Amino acid sequence: MTAGIRPRNNKLVLMPQPIKKAVFPVGGLGTRFLPATKAMPKEMLTVVDKPLIHYAVEEAKAAGVEEFIFVTGRGKSAIEDHFDHSHELQDTLAARGKTEALAALRDWLPGPGQVAYTRQQEPLGLGHAVWCARHLVGDEPFAVLLADDLVLAETPCLKQLVDAYAETGGNVVAVMDVPREHTDRYGILDVSSDDGRRVEVAGLVEKPDPAVAPSTLSIIGRYILLPEVFDHLARQESGAGGEIQLTDAMARMIGGSPFHGVRFEGRRFDCGDRVGFVHANVAFALARDDLREDVEAFLRAYV
Ligand code: UTP
Repeated sequence: MTAGIRPRNNKLVLMPQPIKKAVFPVGGLGTRFLPATKAMPKEMLTVVDKPLIHYAVEEAKAAGVEEFIFVTGRGKSAIEDHFDHSHELQDTLAARGKTEALAALRDWLPGPGQVAYTRQQEPLGLGHAVWCARHLVGDEPFAVLLADDLVLAETPCLKQLVDAYAETGGNVVAVMDVPREHTDRYGILDVSSDDGRRVEVAGLVEKPDPAVAPSTLSIIGRYILLPEVFDHLARQESGAGGEIQLTDAMARMIGGSPFHGVRFEGRRFDCGDRVGFVHANVAFALARDDLREDVEAFLRAYV
């Protein structure tokens, strides 16, 4: 792994290798969101006017990512179409003089060669999905974003991780405090130090019972990982729920390289869950200058 030597505070320090690649595991079945997800990928559900995966790609771009790797599965081709040119649409927009809409469309489409797709033939778990991207990632640190974890934040969540990683190197995950009775829904950290913003990770356990959870600090779907994670994922061991868990592979890296959690600033919405998805739509609409007034007036009158 190569890293650069750069000046910081008048000293020459070894900088970790920049994060240029992001993996988007989108191979899950989305069973909690049936029937919406029967023929449509969960990641194409829209919050206000953008699909979840669109927000995730925008967030990665804002953090400096240049290569976008999707791990797809059966029935996910709408995601590939979304990030491809649609000549018919573009020609129609041009012919109708809708120059603003056309420019906006061209603006967010990834450039040639910036997107790669691989397929997870069976949804064996998040760890397995990430492992499917190993050849596309190669031997460099990379980001993982779960599109159904949507974060409303002034500084995009992955950018907050990248900034922390520039100082710490190693593995970095986004974390948030959850109610103790909910620890069995999340990957939970055991921490050895905590300065309120950044924590040092001493252990990781997937979906622990509240009675034995080492903390109430949960990992959300934003990760910066060292490529060593692929060696651990290669064991293909099943964990909680019979799935190959990313947290199990991450737990095996603790102690080898630095491993930090960042209490990100912002609000996370679990859009893989119906209630979280509705909350996200309301919050994202209220955060938009063009929609806030109308939506707020409607909510006040309706509720
Ligand atoms: P979830 O735990 O939300 O699973 O996956 P899911 O299958 O998508 O949804 P439910 O629980 O059945 O409703 C978290 C993320 O990991 C991806 C999903 O696409 C989602 O982005 N994932 C999960 C995979 O890519 N492959 C898998 O085998 C499992």
